[in-house]
Amino acid sequence: MKKIAVITSGGDCQGMNQVLYSLAQFCQKKNITLIGFYRGYQGIIDNQFTTLNSQILQSVAHLGGTILKSSRCQAMLSPAGRQQAVNNLQAQEIDGLIVIGGDGSAQGANLLSQEFNFPTVVIPATIDNDIDQVALSLGYLSAIDRAVTQLSWIEDTARSHERIFIVEVMGRHSGNLAKGISEQLQPLATILPQTEITDELITQIKQNYQKQTSSLILITELQPNKVKLLTDKLTGFKEIRINTLGHGQRGGPPTKAEIRLATQMARQGLKNLLHHQWGMVILKPKD
Ligand code: F6P
Repeated sequence: MKKIAVITSGGDCQGMNQVLYSLAQFCQKKNITLIGFYRGYQGIIDNQFTTLNSQILQSVAHLGGTILKSSRCQAMLSPAGRQQAVNNLQAQEIDGLIVIGGDGSAQGANLLSQEFNFPTVVIPATIDNDIDQVALSLGYLSAIDRAVTQLSWIEDTARSHERIFIVEVMGRHSGNLAKGISEQLQPLATILPQTEITDELITQIKQNYQKQTSSLILITELQPNKVKLLTDKLTGFKEIRINTLGHGQRGGPPTKAEIRLATQMARQGLKNLLHHQWGMVILKPKD
């Protein structure tokens, strides 16, 4: 392969810029030109791209977000959109595509491979860590880190006012991010998509509060009915506040562990593409 392309697609996450930097480094060593399309698949369809160069990327590798920008591209859902994408990739004489993104982005990549035999690999990247067969996606560890920091600050003010805080964390329909945060924080309760608000749970929360180890209840997003049930049933507390942690969970610099993961994924992603192993990049555990 002489020329390959990369996109960052779907929800951004920490470590994406590091993957771009590492890819540019590895490509340079192999005399491969690396093209970055802007705004995920949308940039391929709109033919908006730049040549990536590791000397320039070095200064942004440690930053949150993605310098290529990202989007959730509706056009890729239609055969005509995918045809346009492949036409543009071929017009630029691009031999393969690396997609850095989550589940939805992986589906687009698979379709390009299946329908057009176009070589694609996917570097799993989402703070939700909800991709089949992927133990650890890029962004997950940093998002936990971000959430734990913000939640510990909420805990400070919660204790001072003897309040309970119900805090919504991201994850879409997956509880994996909430579980990862919980392991570090030991909140009063963690309400996952599958958790039911039972009387037993309410009693448990009250008992946990007595132990004074936490003032926080975590709940995964998109569950407003459960928030309402909780506030109705949690009687006997001085005050209850509801907070949403929000997009800060996706931002900020990658942690050191994330930087290592991003570098490994970039190396494996390029290797897979060059060896015609298309699809999701799965890192093998070290012996
Ligand atoms: O998939 C990552 C994620 O942050 C989810 O946790 C969340 O539900 C969603 O993206 C939010 O999407 P948007 O950035 O479009 O609001």
